[in-house]
Amino acid sequence: MYKLLVINGPNLNRLGKREPHIYGSTTLEELEQRIKNVFNNQCIIEFYQSNHEGFIIDKIHDVEELYDGLVINPGALTHYSLSLRDAISSISKPTIEVHISNVHAREEFRHKSVIAPVVKGQIVGLGLKGYELAITSLLSVLGGEN
Ligand code: DQA
Repeated sequence: MYKLLVINGPNLNRLGKREPHIYGSTTLEELEQRIKNVFNNQCIIEFYQSNHEGFIIDKIHDVEELYDGLVINPGALTHYSLSLRDAISSISKPTIEVHISNVHAREEFRHKSVIAPVVKGQIVGLGLKGYELAITSLLSVLGGEN
């Protein structure tokens, strides 16, 4: 059974409380439980959230040995963290980038992702459903579908 990691970056621990008009009222714990229920018996999913860039980088490195694929919402690190980009480049496992909000419809600084060139694909603006879509896509990629 495939083992996947879902990483949420800075400030995503505040889901449900943070700008609910943009990110909704579901908490991170509720989101993680929902994902677990949806993919129950289909794959093993572990979750990690940190507000610290270096800790996230360490966790990305772990993916190479411990997981088959990665879903990541890097939060604002998306827009400037070359270290995060290099960490993703350094692993061979497929990675999908998720954003809850439509970053392209927001402030200019959110339009650029330094992560996008090194991931398999991006899911943007589809709300929390984006995480499920990313996991489904990863499972297809791992299963050899395109
Ligand atoms: C986000 C979009 C980022 O611009 C922002 O900094 C976040 C969340 C999203 O999921 O929509 O923290 O990644």
